[in-house]
Formats: sequence, C-alpha cells, structure tokens
Amino acid sequence: MPSAFARICALTTLSLALGATAFAASDPAPAAAPAGFEPALGQKGKDVMWLPTPDVLATRLLTMAKLGPNDKLVDLGSGDGKIVIMAARDFGATARGVEFDPRMVAHSEAAAADAGVSQKTRFIQGDIFKHDFSDATVVALYLLPELNLKLRPQLMAMAPGTRIVSHYFDMGRWSPDQEAELQGRPGFLWIVPANAGGTWRIDEKSTSASTSASTSPSQAKTTVLSLQQSFQLLKGTATIDQRSKPVEQARVTGQAIAFSLVDENGKPRKFEGIIDGDRLRGTITDASGPTPFSATREGTAPPIDGSGPPTQEEQNQAALALGAQ
Ligand SMILES: C[S@@+](CC[C@H](N)C(=O)[O-])C[C@H]1O[C@@H](n2cnc3c(N)ncnc32)[C@H](O)[C@@H]1O
Repeated sequence: MPSAFARICALTTLSLALGATAFAASDPAPAAAPAGFEPALGQKGKDVMWLPTPDVLATRLLTMAKLGPNDKLVDLGSGDGKIVIMAARDFGATARGVEFDPRMVAHSEAAAADAGVSQKTRFIQGDIFKHDFSDATVVALYLLPELNLKLRPQLMAMAPGTRIVSHYFDMGRWSPDQEAELQGRPGFLWIVPANAGGTWRIDEKSTSASTSASTSPSQAKTTVLSLQQSFQLLKGTATIDQRSKPVEQARVTGQAIAFSLVDENGKPRKFEGIIDGDRLRGTITDASGPTPFSATREGTAPPIDGSGPPTQEEQNQAALALGAQ
C-alpha cells in the first residue's frame, strides 16, 4: 500500500493530468469518426481526458459490484468502450456507454462487434450531465473528484441497491462500502442506501423462547426507533418502556438495514431487516435465538443527509485534489 502522502501526490498528479486537457463546455463535438482513427492516451475529452482503466482493476470493480446477467450497467464517459464490453462479455450484463467524443463511440461500436457483444451493448454520443441513467443498476465512473461530486445527488437518488464503482476518485463525504487497490490504483464501491431515517414503530411477535421478563407470551412488545441518516450511516435511539437506548453499529446497505442495541433488560440484540418504502421486516437475534419483527415508519421520511448538493468544504477538497488552490 502506498503511504497516504504518496497517494495524495499521485491523485493530484493524475487529477491534473486528467483535467488539464478538458474541452471547454461549449466546444462542439466532432461530427464523425475519421477513417483509421485510433484513440491516443491523454486525448482531450469534454470534462476529462481519455485514459483507460486497466483490465485487472475493471474486472475487480465489476466483481465488487456483483455484476450479473440481470444488471444494466452504464459507464459514464465510456472512452474506448472497454468496461461496457467487459460487462457484457465477461459478466453477461446489458451495458451502455455514454461518451462525448463520437470517434470514441464509433471505435467502441466496432470493438463491441469484434467481441461479439453488439446485441448486449449500446454506445450513446452525449454528455453524461444530460443523459438520464436512472434505470441503471450499476454505474461505472473514471472521471475526476469534482465530477463525481457533481453527479452525487443523481447517484444518491437512484434505486436503493444500485451499485456505483469508481476508478481512482472517491465521492467526498460519502464513504465507500468497499475499496480495493490494484497496481497502486484505488477503486471504490458504493451501494445506494434506502431511506431509513425518521421514526419507526417496531412490533415484535413475542414467542415463549424470546419473551423478555417484562412481557408475557401473549404480549407484543413495541419499540420506537428514531433514526438520523447520513449517506449509508445511521445513528439514533430506541425507546422501550419509556427508556431510551442508543442504537449501535447501524447502517443501510441498499434495502438492508442492520443495527444493535442493548435492551431494557441489559441484553444485546441485533436487528437485521429489509426496508420497503415505509415498511421494514426482519429478524432480531439475541441470546435466546431469532425473533421476527416488523416496523412501520410514522410520518414521512426526512431527506437523507448527503442527498443534496455537495458542501462547499467538499468542493474545496475536490478542487485541492486538482491542484487548483
Ligand atoms: C478517464 S476516461 C475513462 C474511460 C473509461 N470509462 C474507462 O474507465 O476506461 C473518461 C472519458 O470520459 C469522456 N468524457 C469526458 N467528459 C465527458 C462528458 N461530459 N460526457 C461524456 N463523456 C465525457 C472522455 O472523452 C473520456 O473518454
């Protein structure tokens, strides 16, 4: 593993390199792919130049995303099309690339035909900031820190469980769910979290095996959960018999929620469930075994901290990575 300092230096150098030759936003796109065109490393792109993700890292990122035949992948800024082609050829996914440079689009289409995956792939000449990719289940990025931040509100608004992979650049305050490093190049995975914030009323189906000293087998126990969510992380309290306890190790992974708490009798209990809108169903596990529970959210879900535009501080950090300060 390179040191943090070495990594920041490398990131700054790479950011400068990727960003230095960006087209101005108003530059017109070339009309057609010239005959005999071959992509050149570092050639200009609209917001970022072209450099390909190495095969080993692309494979790792798509594996981390658990890409499969039921997935729809989109590569935002698809370059020579390698990630789209790999997604279809090696993982069986349906995949599309969005690329501003029409020469790269034509080149990608030819490469997809050579790989025998034209039926499962599509290349769209366009601007990633104007393309609707909300139907994708996996999003691939190799852009720049501030471009990732600009896309973040759209990414956070995707269906819970959507996976996002990024080569080299992170997502500011949104910490990754998984990281990898190959050949000194970091890769990140995020899983779009469901909204778990607000007040939930949990009803436990009491059984003789799981009933605590304060409930009889015929009683259902009610816990009121108050949760605040920042990206995929949760904090809050559980109120049982008018006593509040902090929830611990709480996070949302797609539609799945998990947290622990120590109950009114001092017993540690682990809650795991699936969020479906304002309903939550799952299992509580404690020393006496598993008990099913269901919960309903009271009122409307507050917006997730992180679903809005990036903070000024994050934008400053992204600009710093570009060496702009
Ligand atoms: C660093 S390359 C990544 C290529 C590919 N995703 C990969 O990982 O191998 C970024 C690509 O984004 C394209 N690009 C830059 N700005 C864009 C924009 N606003 N819309 C669409 N494509 C863009 C560039 O032309 C370039 O091919």
